[in-house]
Amino acid sequence: GAPVKVDISKLEVGQQMVAKWRGKPVWIVRRSEETLANLAKLDNLQDPNSEAPQQPAYVPTTPARAIREDVSVLVGICTHLGCSPTYRPEIAPADLGEDWVGGYYCPCHGSRFDLSGRVMNGSPAPTNLVIPPHRYESDSVIIVG
Ligand code: FES
Repeated sequence: GAPVKVDISKLEVGQQMVAKWRGKPVWIVRRSEETLANLAKLDNLQDPNSEAPQQPAYVPTTPARAIREDVSVLVGICTHLGCSPTYRPEIAPADLGEDWVGGYYCPCHGSRFDLSGRVMNGSPAPTNLVIPPHRYESDSVIIVG
């Protein structure tokens, strides 16, 4: 498939946009400093340092898992059986618990991921969400693929 160009100039902090690449949803979220600080503190992750190869080698394996820390780019497909998880950026909502600092919840079998796509302990999903190949053409344009 051809690479896809995504304009993130209108993407606000806390907002998610969805691009399509090779028939798959690609989630792009602009993250706040607070979110990044929360991600760095999480201690309930199966693969906190992204050791399983779910991302291109040029994407850092730091908690932010991103070329640019304020912008996450993830394939929006659960690594368990392929459902599409739901974006749940809020802090400690009643249905997800007090330790929830924003992330993705998969309604199919309850896998939980943080806002870097890292899978939380107790989830049936075996690995972190996939980061697609991508690069920045400019500050506001991402090329996926
Ligand atoms: Fe997401 Fe099973 S497909 S938890």
